[in-house]
Amino acid sequence: MNIVAHEPQTLLGGLSAAEFLAKYWQKKPLLIRGAFVDFVSPLSPDELAGLACEDGIEARLVEEHGQDEQGRDKPWQVSHGPFDEATFARLPERDWTLLVQAVDHYVPEVNALLEHFHFLPRWRLDDIMVSYAPPGGSVGPHVDQYDVFLLQASGTRHWQLGGKVSDDVPIIPGIDLRILEHFEVQPDQEWLLEPGDMLYLPPGMAHHGVSRSTDCMTFSVGFRALSADESITSFADYLGEQLPASHRYTDPNLAPPTHPGEIDDAAIARMRALILNTLDDPAQMLEWFGRAMTQPKYTDQLVPSESPTDIAQLVAELQGGSVLERTLGSRFAYRDHGNSRATLFVDGDGLACDTGLAFLLAGNRPIDADTLDHPGSAEILAQLLDHGSLGWPYADENEDEDA
Ligand code: SIN
Ligand code: CO
Repeated sequence: MNIVAHEPQTLLGGLSAAEFLAKYWQKKPLLIRGAFVDFVSPLSPDELAGLACEDGIEARLVEEHGQDEQGRDKPWQVSHGPFDEATFARLPERDWTLLVQAVDHYVPEVNALLEHFHFLPRWRLDDIMVSYAPPGGSVGPHVDQYDVFLLQASGTRHWQLGGKVSDDVPIIPGIDLRILEHFEVQPDQEWLLEPGDMLYLPPGMAHHGVSRSTDCMTFSVGFRALSADESITSFADYLGEQLPASHRYTDPNLAPPTHPGEIDDAAIARMRALILNTLDDPAQMLEWFGRAMTQPKYTDQLVPSESPTDIAQLVAELQGGSVLERTLGSRFAYRDHGNSRATLFVDGDGLACDTGLAFLLAGNRPIDADTLDHPGSAEILAQLLDHGSLGWPYADENEDEDA
């Protein structure tokens, strides 16, 4: 029995995981007061601004009543980072928002929050975006395509929900944000969120959150779901690389054409069978899906090791008490094939390995000397170190000392 599914969870307002999934997940919003009890933000607005000034970190600034580069008034102005001190110095006292993507990839204390979402598959999680806004700051009323948990980390934000909207809902043209032209709050669908409160929204729900304090920080725990368009293109690419050139359109039962220019029903039926039969391959689908769902958000964040790991040295390090760490932002999942064999998916790659090892690595248990009890573990750990998906905790400190 899955204990977690049936236990009431504070994070879900006293609902069990099974109740939340059945009643709310992908269906309707849920306001959870005190989801995190006595929550203290693991990040300050200044630290967030610091991240927004770093190269390679995706940051945006959204200003309401802003001006474009030519000094023309615009209802909304979006600029992209990296920013500098001068950017923050020129900002007014209200009506703007700083957004930083994937803060969980950079700040271990923010990453640690993801452990609380264990009632959902880890590979469905995308990242934690963090916003800071002075009073009046918002990103405008909008709709997201993904499920999101909006955790109030500090200060207060006033949220309004406008119900489900269709894909072709009108949006304000000419800005780099999809702000709804019309937004009408639904009855009883507005709340002031305080630190530790959380609002779950399914995809397609119009929402508008406006800061009501000088220290409003909101953490958006967002999920990933491939569109049909992305799935088909990506799966076809994956399969295509493995198909022999001889696997192609054939017509050994060809009947004489009534007109040499006509494409008849039989031709279409042959093509349809070729495509559908080739695609309908559950084993390949699994191999592709695991890779697709563990594709890192930013591939340049994985730093491969300069030289291949020496396996004897790796074993000695672990036996000497060192513990390997999963790289922040690295993604792990597995599929159990039975008979103690599994495919471990890590950062868009698939590795055949022992099930116990896959189970451990795709979870959150420490990767210490006990890991070596699993057959073939040293080789798998060495590969993951080489790819940059695992690392030694002291690697960064040594680099700092050398600098
Ligand atoms: C925000 O934090 O300001 C916006 C988050 C969202 O609406 O998705
Ligand atoms: Co949103």
